[in-house]
Amino acid sequence: MRISWLMIAGYGLLMAAFDAACGASYDEMWRPQVHYSPPAMWMNDPNGLIQIDGQYHLYFQHHPASKVWGPMHWGHAISNDLMHWTTMPIALAPDSHGAIFSGSAVQDRQHSSGLSVQEDQPIVAIFTYHDHEAEAANRVEIESQGAAYSLDKGRTFQKLPSPVLANPGKRDFRDPQVQWNAASHQWLMTIVATDHVEFYTSADLKKWNYESEFGREQGDHSGVWECPNLIRMTGVDDGEAHDVLMVSVGPKGPSARGGVQYFTGRFDGQRFRMDPGSHAQWLEYGTDYYAAVTWNRDTTPPESPPVLLGWMNNWLYATKVPTDPWRGAMALPRNLKLAGRTPTLRLEASPLQALTELRDPGRHQDRIDAGQWASFPASTSPMSGAYDISFQLTMEGDGEALLALENGVGQSVGIEIDPLRAKMTVRRHTSGHVDFDARFSDPLEAALPLGRSEHDVRIIIDRSSMEIFFDNGAATLTAQVFPDESFDRLRWVGGADVHLHDLAIYPLRSIWSSQSGHEAENP
Ligand code: FRU
Repeated sequence: MRISWLMIAGYGLLMAAFDAACGASYDEMWRPQVHYSPPAMWMNDPNGLIQIDGQYHLYFQHHPASKVWGPMHWGHAISNDLMHWTTMPIALAPDSHGAIFSGSAVQDRQHSSGLSVQEDQPIVAIFTYHDHEAEAANRVEIESQGAAYSLDKGRTFQKLPSPVLANPGKRDFRDPQVQWNAASHQWLMTIVATDHVEFYTSADLKKWNYESEFGREQGDHSGVWECPNLIRMTGVDDGEAHDVLMVSVGPKGPSARGGVQYFTGRFDGQRFRMDPGSHAQWLEYGTDYYAAVTWNRDTTPPESPPVLLGWMNNWLYATKVPTDPWRGAMALPRNLKLAGRTPTLRLEASPLQALTELRDPGRHQDRIDAGQWASFPASTSPMSGAYDISFQLTMEGDGEALLALENGVGQSVGIEIDPLRAKMTVRRHTSGHVDFDARFSDPLEAALPLGRSEHDVRIIIDRSSMEIFFDNGAATLTAQVFPDESFDRLRWVGGADVHLHDLAIYPLRSIWSSQSGHEAENP
């Protein structure tokens, strides 16, 4: 088996896969127009998110030979604005240590790794090797951490000959997030081991020392823990520094859907402690948001809010979604904000300003009466199907409100808002193609901010997805949809003492219409 993977990993085949992928039109049915998706074949988690010389790099879990998950590679795309992407040749392929699972990338500004050539600062990718042969033989030690470095700003990588962190006897031991810890002047690796997070430190990115663990008794444990992400943030309300630890929890069992949970607290260089009195929280209420991690940025400390990217899918049905010739898209990159005060700090996530720059002229309506609908204005640019919709809801009583996104062939998504229970329910069972998995039709529920009579709602629709940002991202819900025609109208069913006003609907220009999206040369 390993031999055939090595063959897939052969450079010739990789380039052939890349060339074949370049045939994508990016105008296929359900093709996201303002989100990144690979030209062809399978994609899951974002990996190695790093900004180098102002340019954003997105590596991703990729199977270049199939639309179903398999021997993982790191695909690669580059952007100057986090919206328009150019797909690059595959960055990392499986080798005799295993397939290339999720991980991160750093720039070795300190020249600590000994991998620099003269003044060049290498980009070092640290990822998980997953040994499928050892897994088939039922061995426990199937995951170790490998490293590769790039001297051409993340375009091509040279692997280090052996893993930099061996498996300590734990079956799931993966998804290292590496960052420079300026306070302790060493590298920090945050990694998951089945049901908890472990922290390791290093002086040179090659030899790692175990420091501590976190989480066996905290948070949700309905599935395996994956893709940890520790970031330091300044609270917008208290102006103080806090550490936020995010962990994805895989879906397990018939009801668990998985998702991204987070903990707020303090990392002291060795150990993470939750704020006393705080609880684990969910980052998102949709089913289609997973493995979210933040960009490593140029500046230390970072000047702007962290930017988060999540995979817009769910392991429950990811291998069955009906898209072709690709499967898997990223959600919109989101600015993260830490609001509130200890011990009830919470993350808020909202689209980047760069998204608004894709707006075509829109339509505004001061008020829309119950029972009426507003059609989306046509885009003046080609390859439409993406819209940026916002409105205000004023709730004067406790009555529920209902609105629906609809198309011309009778398909719809219903959005119910229940102010009394501070709850939003999204129903997509009549949204089009839903029968590829029974669980896809389950209603999605979000807890809304309490005690407000005025709510701000923004919905980004993109052919096969909708992302709802409630009250500037205090609650977010991401859901895939596969209608036969793009949704093109909003129906306000209304509700007792609820008013929908200040409606604005902008068509969004396709990020793919102005470029091929997959140039082989450097952008
Ligand atoms: C999360 C995940 C990671 C793993 C990768 C494999 O979606 O399961 O834990 O590294 O995907 O593709």
